[in-house]
Order: sequence, then C-alpha cells, then structure tokens
Amino acid sequence: MSSYPALAAPQWQHLEALAANEAGFSVAEAFATDPARFEHFSLAAGDLFLDFSKNRMSPAALAGLLDLVRASGFHERRAAKLSGEAINRSENRAVLHTALRAGQAGPAGEVIAAEVAGELERMAVLVEGMRSGIITGATGKPYTDVVNIGIGGSLLGPHMASRALGRYAAGPMRNHFISDPDGCKLRDLMGYLDPETTLVIVASKTFTTLETLVNARAAKAWLSVRLGQGADRHFCGVSARADRMSEFGILPEQQFRMWDWVGGRYSVWSAIGLALALVVGMEHFRAFLAGAKLMDEHFASAEPEANLPVLFALSHVWHASFLGMTAIVNLPYQPRLKLLPAYLQQLEMESLGKRVNHAGEVVAYPVGPLIFGQVGNNAQHSFMQLMHQGLDSCLADFIAVVDDPDAPERLGLANCLAQSRALMVGNAEAMAGEPHRICPGNRPSNTLLLKELSPHILGQLLALYEHKVFVQSLVWDINAYDQWGVELGKQIATQLQAALRGEPTELPLDPSTAGLLKRLGA
Ligand code: F6P
Repeated sequence: MSSYPALAAPQWQHLEALAANEAGFSVAEAFATDPARFEHFSLAAGDLFLDFSKNRMSPAALAGLLDLVRASGFHERRAAKLSGEAINRSENRAVLHTALRAGQAGPAGEVIAAEVAGELERMAVLVEGMRSGIITGATGKPYTDVVNIGIGGSLLGPHMASRALGRYAAGPMRNHFISDPDGCKLRDLMGYLDPETTLVIVASKTFTTLETLVNARAAKAWLSVRLGQGADRHFCGVSARADRMSEFGILPEQQFRMWDWVGGRYSVWSAIGLALALVVGMEHFRAFLAGAKLMDEHFASAEPEANLPVLFALSHVWHASFLGMTAIVNLPYQPRLKLLPAYLQQLEMESLGKRVNHAGEVVAYPVGPLIFGQVGNNAQHSFMQLMHQGLDSCLADFIAVVDDPDAPERLGLANCLAQSRALMVGNAEAMAGEPHRICPGNRPSNTLLLKELSPHILGQLLALYEHKVFVQSLVWDINAYDQWGVELGKQIATQLQAALRGEPTELPLDPSTAGLLKRLGA
C-alpha cells in the first residue's frame, strides 16, 4: 500500500496538512483578501483562458501543488515522454500521439516523423480525391456519405470533433458513426443511404474488437449485395494490423496505419480522424493538428507556474486528492460540444482510473475522479440541482466560447457565468429562514474560455486535456496509457455470448448470472 507518491512524499504530506488546516477556506473571502485573485489564479495560453480563481484553493495550496509537481520530476518526465521513452511501462511502449501533429519538428525522430507525414499525405490524397469527385465508388458516382464503424477511441474523437466543427462541414460529404453491436444504427442507415455513394471506414487499432467487427461484417454484406466485387472500393480501414485489414478484404491502398505508440483515446490526430477530415476537408483537419501542436509547444516549454495543462491538472489533483471531491463535472456551454463530456470520460477515466502505481503498489490516496457532464444549458434543468444543494463532492469545469456566431444573444454565456457564481456565493444569508431553499455556496469551479470554436482551437483544447492527464498521472505516480481493466469484461462477454446462443459453456457461473441467463432463455 502506497500512502504517498514515492517521489514527492514530503510535498504530498505538506498538502494534506494544509487541506486539513484550511478546511474552512472560503472562496468568496479569498477574493476579499486578495483583490487581484482573479489575475493570480488565471492563465491564458494560445486561444484558451483558464480562470481557476473560484477553486477552493489558497495561495499556499497553489504554491504547495507547484512544489509537488516539481518534486514529481516534471521536467525530466515531460522530456522523456516527448522524446519517445517507453513511459507506458506495463506495455513497454512510447506515448507519442504528439508526433501525429508535430510535423518534421517532432523530437521523436525522423523515422516516426516520416511515417506520420506519409500517412497524412495518403489521407489527404483520399480525402481530396473523394471530396472533389475524382475518386468515385464502384459505379462511378461520387461519395456523399461516410460511415465510421468503431468504438471507444476509434469513434469518440472523430464523432465529437465532427459535431464540434459542424460549421466547417459545408463540403459534399456527411458522416455517420456506428459503435453499438445491436445493428439498429446500421439498419437505420441502410434504410436511406445509397450504397453506390457510401464509404465505410472500419476503425480499430487491434482489428479484433467484437462490436466493430460485427458491424463491419454487416456493412460488408449490405454493400456486397448491391455492388458485388466492387464493394471493396467502398471500404477503408484504419488499424495497427494491416494483416487483419487485408484478411477482412480492405484494399491495401485504402488501408491507413496506426502505431503502437498511439493509444486509442489519443488517436483522433491519426487516420482515425479520417471521417472528420472527409467532412471538413484537409485544410481544416491540418488546422486542427496545428492547434494541438501549439498547445504541445506551450506545454513543452512553459514552467509549471505558467503552464496551462499543469495548472489545470493541479486544480483537479487538489480537489480530487486533498479535498475529497470524487467527481469533476464537464459543462460545455456550446451545444456543438455536446459529445465532449463523453470524449473526456474515455480520455480521463480510461487513463486515470487506476489502482496501482508504477511499482505495482495499491495507492492509498484518491486518484482518477469520476468525469461526467452535458451541455450546461441542459444540465441546469437536470443535475445542477445536486451541485447547488446536494453532495458537496463535485468540481465543476465550465467551458464557454467567447466569439460564437451561433449564439449572438449570448444567453449561454450568461448562464455559464451565473452558474459558476451561484455555486460560489450561494444564498445562505438571504434564505436563512427557509432551509430547504438554501444553497450553501463555496462550491468550486473552473471556467475555460475558448476564443472561438474553430478547428485550430478545438485542437488546442483537446491537447490541453491530454497534457493535463499526463501531469495528473505524474503526480499520482500511475500509468495513464494502459487499460488492462477493460479486458476481463471482454473475455467473459465472449463466453456468455456462446451461452446465449445455446452453446454449452464450461464457464463457472455465479447464481445471479446463471439465473439471468436462464431468464434470457439460454
Ligand atoms: O476500451 C478499450 C479499448 O481498447 C479502447 O482503449 C479503444 O479505444 C477501444 O477499446 C477500441 O479498440 P480498437 O480501436 O482496437 O477497436
């Protein structure tokens, strides 16, 4: 059992003592104490601005957190990650999604840079060929629809980004996303898509994910009936396994490769982003990459006290590990970011939802908070009640867009700032005589402002979160880049699927599962 991260035990113990001594810390009073608190607890980087002044965090806590991140080996470990060291120790892999957007300047070496550039160029040829109508389907018609079949990181990134960048999708193609294996989405699409103008992307790093393969086979059957042998022109594959893509029947020239040093939840920058590029075009996709690169360069060069991912990470570490907050609520106040909470759930909880440190010891301190959320305007008519009067165990992350042509009336911005202020100030005095109406206040939040919702700034935002996760894993001494926890369920599901088909199973069954199988007619 590890009580403190080995590297920074003294700094960790200091922060625990501080949290105990500052148990009555009042955010509202902190502004009275320091009229410049907003300036001292906020930072701009690129086109993003983070206000963390409503955190339940004193200047002493901020100083202690910065000492903690330095003592955790920030400078050395940041350099190691960016240079391609195998920091994913349980799988002995490098973590180089930054190389996907670094261009030739990437520090990970010429070979990787060349491979990445080569695949990006191949992607551009296909995207520009299909969008211009030069590359057509088997019957000579231009493509109009692209169906991305994938799950987790092989779907969430392009799906979320396509919605976020809807204003940039004015081209000739629409995209659709399928992940669930029950086939209803594919059946719906088959009801109105024209096979002659439909491209299917089978996106799977391993090319073994059952949900994806079930849908891919169904799509292949559908297209083969209508297009015969020409159906193979209507498939692209994105995977680390070219052999399996060929085995499925994807033409080599329509296969795009992924690499082991790119985790699924960090892969939108690779050809996993193909469905996005086809609808927004390569110019905007390259801008998306450039935005992430700008944040990479900021992260790689800024000192901790002026480093946006570091400060954002320390806000989350402080509230989760030292103030006992078990959840962080993501509240984008722009409906086009509707899928951002789901994307961040995978990025954050598949990265930080761990129980042992790098040495294999079970950690005895809180790590990996729950992440949930939805578009803020809707959340106000849903779970924000709990945030104001219920459990005091959530940190709220508000995200808003400054220049938003979709919302000239700016009601969303008013709501965003109002919710953040209401959580902080509450109304205890005004409602003193009516306890059921009291909002106690002093509830913490961050507010992240995006100058606008453009490809470049969306790239900055996602890279910010990726680096934030890295800093949290550093401070918590855990591996953010493996995901062994998802394997057991997959293994059992394969066996239960056989049982549900009526096949005999030697699987040892608990009475509950056995009883449920029986009720399901197995
Ligand atoms: O959830 C486990 C996981 O491996 C994710 O990390 C990944 O994004 C997803 O499943 C899909 O995996 P693949 O891209 O190999 O189909």
